[in-house]
Amino acid sequence: MKIFVTRKIPVKGLQLLKKHHTIIINEKNRPLSKEEIIQGLKGKQGLLCLLNDTIDKEVIQSNPSLRMIANCAVGYNNIDVEAATKQKVLVSNTPGVLTDTTAELTWSLILSVARKIPASDQFSRSGHFNGWDPMLLLGLDLKNKTLGIIGAGRIGTAVALKSLGFGMKILYADHKKNEQIENCCNATLVSLEHLLQHADVISIHVPLTDTTHHLIGINQFKLMKKSAIFINTSRGPVVDESALIDALEEKWIYGAGLDVYEYEPEIPESLKNCDNVVLLPHIGSATIETRTKMAVMAAENLLAGLNGTQPKNCVNPEVLL
Ligand code: DGY
Repeated sequence: MKIFVTRKIPVKGLQLLKKHHTIIINEKNRPLSKEEIIQGLKGKQGLLCLLNDTIDKEVIQSNPSLRMIANCAVGYNNIDVEAATKQKVLVSNTPGVLTDTTAELTWSLILSVARKIPASDQFSRSGHFNGWDPMLLLGLDLKNKTLGIIGAGRIGTAVALKSLGFGMKILYADHKKNEQIENCCNATLVSLEHLLQHADVISIHVPLTDTTHHLIGINQFKLMKKSAIFINTSRGPVVDESALIDALEEKWIYGAGLDVYEYEPEIPESLKNCDNVVLLPHIGSATIETRTKMAVMAAENLLAGLNGTQPKNCVNPEVLL
């Protein structure tokens, strides 16, 4: 069968696919437009795509021979799963393999904001370091502070577990109880409102859906402590970015650490101009080990689906009923 791969991914994943099928890869080192994806997908039975590829109804319906879409990401808000299911097209994602990697990046952001790491690096490089200074680049401690996890799924749980060495109290907001973080971290389930009012570090780990779109906006930022650190490594549109910019400019909060943006890859100039934010280019899962595992997992899912069996990480298994 023929598979369209929208972007070069780690070679192990591609090798796996090549063993069994013909693969056509987008060699351009940039994301494809929707029209380019439709073109590339013509006559293919499989699609291996990334989180920044729009795979909507139009793309899916453009190819009646399509059988399987393997997203090389855990989040699959870029795919119209309903349209895929209607057309009997299987969809898979890559959960689990990037959990700790994303949680580690979340912690990198927490520490970077709390201890002004990027500004300190910039200061040191620019020749301004004239000796130890009692008032230089003072940040915030984490010990004995409260970490608030919004969304205690796999990644939220891993972020909470990694807090153990920092001696923080944990609050979490979720629609269901998470025994693991309650038992391991003594975490307390609270309402979102309570969490926003009481946490010193707020980290968001929800998938992007219609209900989580703009979950955090003006009202939510206004509830936070003036000393709060806000972290987003989930999806940009979960946060109303213009409200976040107001919160940073007006110092309603201490600072923010972001790996994702509402209109990715665009980052507003006003956000870049804030000196209390650390900005990363969506690198939550970007380690050699994890990206390789994601590529292999996506390839294995695709092979299973094209073979007529249920992929391990299928998000619409009802297609096979
Ligand atoms: C995902 O897989 O959803 C992550 O955002 C990738 O970095």
